[in-house]
Amino acid sequence: MIGRGSAVLAAAILAGSSVLLVRPAAAAPPGPGQQQQQEKRPVAEGYGGAVATVDLDASKAALGVLRRGGNAIDAAVAAAATLGVTEPYSAGLAGGGYIVYYDARHRRVHTIDGRETAPKAMRPTSLEGIPFDDAVTSGLSAGVPGSVAQWELALRRFGTLSLGEALKPAIEVASRGFTVDQTFYDQTASNAARFKDLTSTAKLYLPGGAPPAVGSTFRNPELADTYRQLGRRGGSWLYGGRLGAEIVATVKRPPVTPGSTRTVRPGLMELSDLAAYRAVERAPTRVTYEDNDVYGMPPASSGGSTVGEALNILQALPRVGVHEYLEASKLAFADRGKYVGDIPGVPLRQLLSEGFAKERACLVGERAIPAPAAPGDPDGSYGPCRAVPPESQKPTPAEGPETTHLVVADRWGNVVAYNITIESTGGNGIVVPGRGFLLNNELTDFTFGPAPGDPNLPGPGKRPRSSMAPTIVLKNGEPLLAVGSPGGSTIITTVLQILVNRWDFGMTLPQALAAPRATQRNTAQTQAEQGFIDRYGPELTARGHSLVLNPEIGAATGLEFLGGGRVQAVAEPVRRGGGSALVVSGHR
Ligand code: DON
Repeated sequence: MIGRGSAVLAAAILAGSSVLLVRPAAAAPPGPGQQQQQEKRPVAEGYGGAVATVDLDASKAALGVLRRGGNAIDAAVAAAATLGVTEPYSAGLAGGGYIVYYDARHRRVHTIDGRETAPKAMRPTSLEGIPFDDAVTSGLSAGVPGSVAQWELALRRFGTLSLGEALKPAIEVASRGFTVDQTFYDQTASNAARFKDLTSTAKLYLPGGAPPAVGSTFRNPELADTYRQLGRRGGSWLYGGRLGAEIVATVKRPPVTPGSTRTVRPGLMELSDLAAYRAVERAPTRVTYEDNDVYGMPPASSGGSTVGEALNILQALPRVGVHEYLEASKLAFADRGKYVGDIPGVPLRQLLSEGFAKERACLVGERAIPAPAAPGDPDGSYGPCRAVPPESQKPTPAEGPETTHLVVADRWGNVVAYNITIESTGGNGIVVPGRGFLLNNELTDFTFGPAPGDPNLPGPGKRPRSSMAPTIVLKNGEPLLAVGSPGGSTIITTVLQILVNRWDFGMTLPQALAAPRATQRNTAQTQAEQGFIDRYGPELTARGHSLVLNPEIGAATGLEFLGGGRVQAVAEPVRRGGGSALVVSGHR
């Protein structure tokens, strides 16, 4: 266990242990020559703007925009649209996402909610009784896409480029093609059984009946054309126009391959649902951890509230170690499940209050709290410790590793943390014929029910509860960190663990991202990567935790502002094939 103020000692302990996965080269700042080459590397340090994504093409798209004088929002939209080409199973124009944005001129943090919505015809019972996998590959799971409205709002409010200009790098990559890597191949192969059952998807992603080979060039001219037209016609082409009508037709009559025995249920989406969609600016969540102001995404994301509550609980404890990290996360997830969703009256202020955190923190002892732990009572009246009996056992929710997170900073000091997703790897598996993009299955993030009182049941126009947690940290009003991850509900624990690694365990940001992870989401077992089990298993088991292997948790990206205009951009060194960090200039 590591006490507060022992950061140096912690760093020394960790540096000598096997938990660090950082490649030695990663810590060295790039020379100007190396930077020019723009090779795929997980860490870059420098000036004038920085980006980190999971993908070199997407990072280059953002860097190009920054170099041509665009700002962080312009570059983030360009990178997200490029990820729609090169990471099409995680991101795309028919998905949704959340942007947390630091506006340097006004020194304010904003958020833009581009979460998908349920169609007006959706009811709390609409998903009841449907096997999860069947719901995923269906028209029913497709939410009204949010990304395009979000891009337009972000560019209009904070950007300098038009949508058409911001889409140019993505159009270029879709037209000229990108090199298929192992991750793309594996994701296609793991989806092949359902892709082949949908004519438009098989045509695009199983050319010749098989996934494109590693090392081959993959082009998507139909997506290039869709982006081109979107740039020219604007978002109304989707939100009520011809492209929208094609999406609705695809959702209502999925193009099932003749002879396939797969049941692909039709969806409820109408053109009027698309016309009614709005991206929304919302006030960020904020908690203060030590001297750091941590800003995140408010409901219907549970990202900001759950990361924030867990940090508050940790802050109320005398010591912070891995046991405390898991316990704080367990308790915060108990409250997330009961209180957070797209409903009126989420007790956000209380969930993020010091009083509530103290009441929750006093449940943390030497031994692990039996899970699932019961939710607390964020009623504004907090007293001495209340023992709460554990809840009855529920299955651990299934979570894939998909979705993606990117970070961008520009020369003016603006910062973006941006999660974009189509939910499962490959979304609902249905490509809109002739348009080159997959639909999302975000509505499977709703609770299927029956679950009386659950805040996350489906409903007309509702946004499914998300765990996406793009996070920006300010210190004394200046950006200090930006961080986020994919991974469904493990996003929350990954962001929390990176912050704890950085602040309480004395790691650098590259070390904090690379270190082995564990995720405790109020379930009987804590999932953990092998390196974490090796390092902490005996200590945690002795304290009543049960660890089970999860081979890979999250593929995060982050930025650290080092002072004097110097920025460190960080991507994964290993997970998901490693990411790409780039800076505008290695020198001032
Ligand atoms: O919004 C969410 O929390 C998820 N739909 C994000 C998707 C994701 O990370 C993939 N994993 N299930």
